[in-house]
Amino acid sequence: MSRFRAAALAFAAVVFAAVVAPLPAVAADEVNVYTYRETKLVQPLFDAFTKDTGIAVNVISASSGLEQRIKAEGANSPADVLLTVDIGRIDEAVAAGVTQPIKSAVIDEIVPARYRDPDGHWAGISMRARVIYASKDRVKQEAITYEELADPKWKGKICIRSGQHIYNNALFAAYVAKHGEEKAEAWLRGLKANLAQKPSGGDRETARDVAAGKCDLGIGNTYYWALMLKDPDKKAWADATRVILPTFEGGGTHVNLSGVLLAKNAPNKANGVKLIEWLAGEKAQQIYADANYEYPIRPGVPLNPTIAGYGRLTADSLPIARIAAQRKTASTLVDKVGFDN
Ligand SMILES: [Fe+2]
Repeated sequence: MSRFRAAALAFAAVVFAAVVAPLPAVAADEVNVYTYRETKLVQPLFDAFTKDTGIAVNVISASSGLEQRIKAEGANSPADVLLTVDIGRIDEAVAAGVTQPIKSAVIDEIVPARYRDPDGHWAGISMRARVIYASKDRVKQEAITYEELADPKWKGKICIRSGQHIYNNALFAAYVAKHGEEKAEAWLRGLKANLAQKPSGGDRETARDVAAGKCDLGIGNTYYWALMLKDPDKKAWADATRVILPTFEGGGTHVNLSGVLLAKNAPNKANGVKLIEWLAGEKAQQIYADANYEYPIRPGVPLNPTIAGYGRLTADSLPIARIAAQRKTASTLVDKVGFDN
């Protein structure tokens, strides 16, 4: 039994007894990945990695609690690499103390500094932007700023999910980082006043509500629109809307990351770094772009045609670490202005 499998079986015992039995020695050519990403999205990547390198990839996929799990497993954790989405989750993993710096000249070379942790604990591997799904029928303007979302001309016309959801938390944190807390609060009050309904649902539901005429602008991530277009049940929501890439005044479009972290006690550390570097390679980046509808982190990799159809993305230049530093302030402001009420 591999160390990974043994650990998987022992997980319940680890959690409930907080005692970790010694595990068998590490097999030479494997790497253990804990991920919040859906298996069907990441398996093609891991299969290609194994084919290229001969290193087997063991995957544990979960929708929550992976940091706690690595923490509970302690020094005996089989986790090598944590693959996750959004700076919120990336930040939580670092805060949980379950990571170590990724020391890689390859990553430093490929991944722009603003998409990496200054201390090396995380690196972005692909990007998504937080954009507008605008009604094709009712919205005529081509460009929009995030600031403008608080303009009273949109009163009763905007739909958005909870202000505390990690995607909005990062957008609002970016606003705080750009304009300061006071202006961010005023903006949030203005945005709140423009909502057509109480924040609810997910990003796809904002497109659904635009399609149903409940609002004119929905806020959502870039990949959801592409997913809706391919989903027979939701294609009508995409068809009723078009994606506008908003920008900050004098800046670019807010992007967030899917990222990689190296586990603190990675038993296969060298293989973990190898996988991280491979994920930034051309082949993996192309798979990310096409299978996940994300923006490649590596310059020069072609976009998926649907994503390219949104127009040219000018990502905002604010380093993601500076956005992460304002997450708490953004969350406090959301409560203060009663955004979700
Ligand atoms: Fe998502």
